[in-house]
Amino acid sequence: MAEVDTSRNFETFVRRWLKPAAFVIALAPFAWWGYRALNGQLGANPIEATTRYFGDWALRFLLIALAVTPVRLLTKWNGIARLRRMLGLFAFFYVALHVMSYVGLDLFFDLRLLVQEIVKRRYITVGMFALVILVALAATSTDAMTRRLGGRRWRRLHSLVYPAAIAGVFHYYMMVRAGFIEPLTYGLILAALFAIRMIKKA
Ligand code: HEM
Repeated sequence: MAEVDTSRNFETFVRRWLKPAAFVIALAPFAWWGYRALNGQLGANPIEATTRYFGDWALRFLLIALAVTPVRLLTKWNGIARLRRMLGLFAFFYVALHVMSYVGLDLFFDLRLLVQEIVKRRYITVGMFALVILVALAATSTDAMTRRLGGRRWRRLHSLVYPAAIAGVFHYYMMVRAGFIEPLTYGLILAALFAIRMIKKA
């Protein structure tokens, strides 16, 4: 009986405190960008700074969302799984802002130019590959879609988050001309998360 009470209290803690706190923390980078934009603190090239800033946070949130299962497997704290969908949707939110700032502010919604960029610049092609996957995952993230697809098909589809994250890291690696340390660090973190998942599930 005491065990049931403890797990119910914990559920309440996750629902009432942990999720709202994670939501506010995940919005903080957006709020910080808004503050700097309003105060003219985005530097000499605010459009490039905006695209890069949201690109960085998109990749960070992809890795944070991907870290949920390894953390659950290592700590046996199952409650953390309740944050996974929200964190994944925040990754999508920042990817959407990243792409919107590029397509809207940089290319002025010139879709013909966008197609040319996708064909001409390999790192944009790779970014688009990741984007298409993330759109499909966000669109099927609701409970109704999970039921419609069925657990197995849904899980198979959502395992595509790994190719999307690999493409995200690669996209970053391909666009930098110097300073490969950051994309390589993201790549190593991604590899470590995947390895923990594989080892712990084996
Ligand atoms: C999962 C999808 C994506 C992720 C995670 C991602 C992430 C990133 C990251 C981390 C950077 C480097 C930021 C920095 O230098 O600090 C970047 C740069 C860039 N990304 Fe993406 N990206 C994605 C998709 C896309 C797509 C679909 C496009 C275009 C349609 C795009 C366009 C760009 C551009 C143009 C830059 C260079 C910005 C500049 O130097 O002005 N990205 N992206």
